[in-house]
Amino acid sequence: MQFRQQIVLTVSALAIAIGGCSEGIIDKADPANERAVQMGKNIYAENCAGCHGASLEGEPNWQVKKDDGTLPAPPHNDNGHTWHHDDNLLFNYTKLGGAEMLPKNIKSGMPAFAEVLSDEQIWAVLSFIKSQWSIEAQQRQSTLNKK
Ligand code: HEC
Repeated sequence: MQFRQQIVLTVSALAIAIGGCSEGIIDKADPANERAVQMGKNIYAENCAGCHGASLEGEPNWQVKKDDGTLPAPPHNDNGHTWHHDDNLLFNYTKLGGAEMLPKNIKSGMPAFAEVLSDEQIWAVLSFIKSQWSIEAQQRQSTLNKK
């Protein structure tokens, strides 16, 4: 192979590699990012739906403590309070878990996902959750992120 041809090939391989990454890693909760929402949908089904409900509806009587002192998993749709929290809190709650985030006297039923999901996967699942909110809830919640 000619040296010149090799350069052309190398340059085009690089272009393809960079082009392939052009969508970038997911580093925020963005309901408008279809790739993030699609990825998050699968992550949600595998990791969150068991407690928070397949349709994000939460556990029945989610406001009433269980016998073991933990709260049932709240809904992640408009009926819950997920959209009352800013993106960073939602990210930290998912990554670190309730035991880390709640006052020490409150028993949490929310596991930490730091060992299970990458940061990108957590942002993707939050993108999916946000995509399921009404436009009103999305707009209200986005004002929290600006503070
Ligand atoms: C084993 C059950 C369980 C699983 C699995 C689970 N959660 Fe939770 N989650 C809870 C419970 C219970 C709470 C209520 C608060 C607490 O006990 O800490 C909660 C609270 C939360 C909160 C804070 C409250 C809110 O609505 O903003 C977020 C955010 C959250 N979960 C996200 C997730 C995500 C994302 C997943 C999947 C990656 C997930 N949870 C998987 C049980 C679970």
